[in-house]
Amino acid sequence: MSFQLSFVSLETNVFAARREAVRGRRAMVASQHELASHIGADVMRRGGNAVDASIAVALALAVVYPEAGNLGGGGFMLIRFKDGRTTAIDYREMAPQGATRDIFVNEKGEIIKGEGSSTIGYRAAGVPGTPAGLEMAFNKYGSKKIAWAELVEPARLLAQDGYVLSYRLANLFKAYKDTLEKYADSKRIFLNNGNFYEEGDVLKQPELAKTLERIKKSGAQGFYTGETARLIAEDMRANNGLITLEDLKNYRAKERTPLRGTYRGHEIISMPPPSSGGIVLLQALNVLENYDLRQMQHNSSKKYHLLAETLRRSFADRAEFMADPDFAVVPVADLIAKSYAAKRGATIDLTKATRSADIRAGEIAARESMDTTHFTVVDPDGTIVSNTYTINDLYGSRVTAKGTGVLLNDEMDDFAARPGKPNMFGLIQGERNAVQPKKRPLSSMTPTIVLRKDGTPWFAIGARGGPRIITAVLQTVINMIDHDMNIQQAINAPRIHHQWFPDEILAEPYGMSPDTRIALESLGHNFTDKPGFIASATGIEIEEKTGVRLGAIDARSDGASTGY
Ligand code: DON
Repeated sequence: MSFQLSFVSLETNVFAARREAVRGRRAMVASQHELASHIGADVMRRGGNAVDASIAVALALAVVYPEAGNLGGGGFMLIRFKDGRTTAIDYREMAPQGATRDIFVNEKGEIIKGEGSSTIGYRAAGVPGTPAGLEMAFNKYGSKKIAWAELVEPARLLAQDGYVLSYRLANLFKAYKDTLEKYADSKRIFLNNGNFYEEGDVLKQPELAKTLERIKKSGAQGFYTGETARLIAEDMRANNGLITLEDLKNYRAKERTPLRGTYRGHEIISMPPPSSGGIVLLQALNVLENYDLRQMQHNSSKKYHLLAETLRRSFADRAEFMADPDFAVVPVADLIAKSYAAKRGATIDLTKATRSADIRAGEIAARESMDTTHFTVVDPDGTIVSNTYTINDLYGSRVTAKGTGVLLNDEMDDFAARPGKPNMFGLIQGERNAVQPKKRPLSSMTPTIVLRKDGTPWFAIGARGGPRIITAVLQTVINMIDHDMNIQQAINAPRIHHQWFPDEILAEPYGMSPDTRIALESLGHNFTDKPGFIASATGIEIEEKTGVRLGAIDARSDGASTGY
């Protein structure tokens, strides 16, 4: 008698063993806070499109997700319209006019720590881009069926009337106590003046409500000029910061052409510089396309070896070639060419790890010339927005500009404070990404949209987590295309990270078997001392036959999808 493994067919069994994505027949928002997702879905129910909804979600997250949602940071909004056109709005922060190449280095040539550094305090902040980016999105691509003021109002109300703090958020404030308490407004607002908030308490942010009121009335002008700008500039001046009224007035969001590549016949649309995300993603996919990952299987040492080898090469290129394209020549087309990937891939040895010290950036002719959150929205028409924005570290520079309720970013750390020396994320970056006035720091944010082979939209994805964003997005794409996972599974599945330097693989807690690790070590790979979670992603898949929108939030983080 043959042994029966299961009473149900394999297919039924798969259904029983997985958490489904949230389903919505017409529209979906997947963001890291339930209240923000509800607000976005409501905008679409009232006739707004995905761009309108994204603006409302971004503003709401600035209130309910202060670790990363923001007015005082910047980001990238990738849009694919229902007719197939695409665009990308770059609202990355800019270095203030007063920033110079060595501003974060002391007389001994060492990187400055603490106040005055690129990671904490007033000097860490770049000129925020979020209000300008959202306004540009509204003016160019909003439906015009919903007024700007109506998109701002839900966020303003949440700031004014408050919202209930979750267990996670109340504890996260406490976890950042040592740095938040150094800045008076941050201490008062986020630490309840030293008395701390508990789960279930209501957080009201009256100054932020007033700032949002000014933005509601005057659009981005309500941030970059007038009272808000005056408050920010005054606080900067009083605390040795760099951002001036001029800097604020001169900030501009920019529209960029998205990068397009293919992976096994699927079109991949992603973010161009000043993000490195799209280039590194496409380059890695181009290398991996030459191997049968499906046959290697998802969690195998063979596949992880190949991933680590591919990533260490791509991150070496990131350090050398990538920066703000308005300031440095970035050889984008060469870097994402299939022929270049073939050359880079040819140096991979399937039987042993290469030392990162032996890897240099590839040969490319153009060389000589000169706490984040992602949300995804799909509207009833099929327009898709994949948006990642950030203030960099959790709670950014920890500075809340006095009287505004606005937490400022510490995005200056995404520049190479000292080219060749690691930044907060351990990333080595090159001269092209040195600090310069008005320049945008190089990012890893990777908002991405993937099409089916017939050219119809399949899924959109993005993540938070610094350079780990790129590896998280890469592995989610592979999980969908090579391993036939649904969007929720693809996001949840264990992943690894490698970024060239430090020369080690980061694996996740519970994410890799000891046998797999031993197999990788025997090929010559090093591992980080401790495992750690690798980014957190949110995404939406569009179901092939029904068009149902499937919203998915990473098991590594909180958040919710709302659809209808
Ligand atoms: O732009 C970047 O690459 C970084 N500033 C992103 C930072 C980040 O994802 C932090 N997230 N938790």
